[in-house]
Amino acid sequence: MSIENNNTTKSIRTAVFPGSFDPFHAGHIDVAKRALQLFDHLIIAVIKNPNKQSFFSEDQRIVLLKEIFKNYKNVEIDSFSGLLVDYLKHKQCNIVIRGLRAISDFDYEAQMALMNKNMLPGTETVFLVAQEEHSYISSSLIKQVATLGGDVSKIVPSQINKAIIEKLAKN
Ligand code: PNS
Repeated sequence: MSIENNNTTKSIRTAVFPGSFDPFHAGHIDVAKRALQLFDHLIIAVIKNPNKQSFFSEDQRIVLLKEIFKNYKNVEIDSFSGLLVDYLKHKQCNIVIRGLRAISDFDYEAQMALMNKNMLPGTETVFLVAQEEHSYISSSLIKQVATLGGDVSKIVPSQINKAIIEKLAKN
C-alpha cells in the first residue's frame, strides 16, 4: 500500500502548550523540547486566572519562561484567559500539547481534549508521556516541598529555583 502526499508547499506547523506552569518544571521542559521535535513552532501559553491563588504571578511566570527559552527562536511565550479554544482560534492553531504523567492524568485530560474538539472541531490534542524520571513531578508538590524548606533545584530550571528562593526569602 502506498500513501501519496501531493503537498508541495511546506507550511509551518504550530502547536500550543497551555498550562498554569506555577511553576514550570523539568517535566514541562521535557514535554516542550519533545514537542519541538514534532512541530516547527511552539507557543507556551500561560493561563491567566485571576480567581486562582498562585505562587508566582502570571507576569513573573512569563518573565521566567522568556528567560528559560531565550535561545529558542521557535518558542513563543504568551498568556491567555477564557477558553483555550478561543485562544487557538486567535492563534489560528489546532494542535494542543499536553503531558501525561500517569494513567490518573488521563481521565481529565481526555475529557478536556474531547470537550475542546467538541467546541472547536479539528482541534487535536497531542499527549506526550512523561519520561519515567519526571513522572512524579508536579507543580503543587514542588510548591509544597519548597515552602517547607526542601530543595527542588534538581527538578526545576535554575531560573525558577532562584526565583523560588528569592520569593520565599521575602515572605
Ligand atoms: O497546567 P494545568 O492547570 O493542568 O492547565 C489546565 C489548562 C489551563 C490547560 C485548562 O484548565 C484550560 O484549558 N483552561 C482554559 C479554560 C478552558 O478552555 N476550559 C475548558 C477546557 S475543556
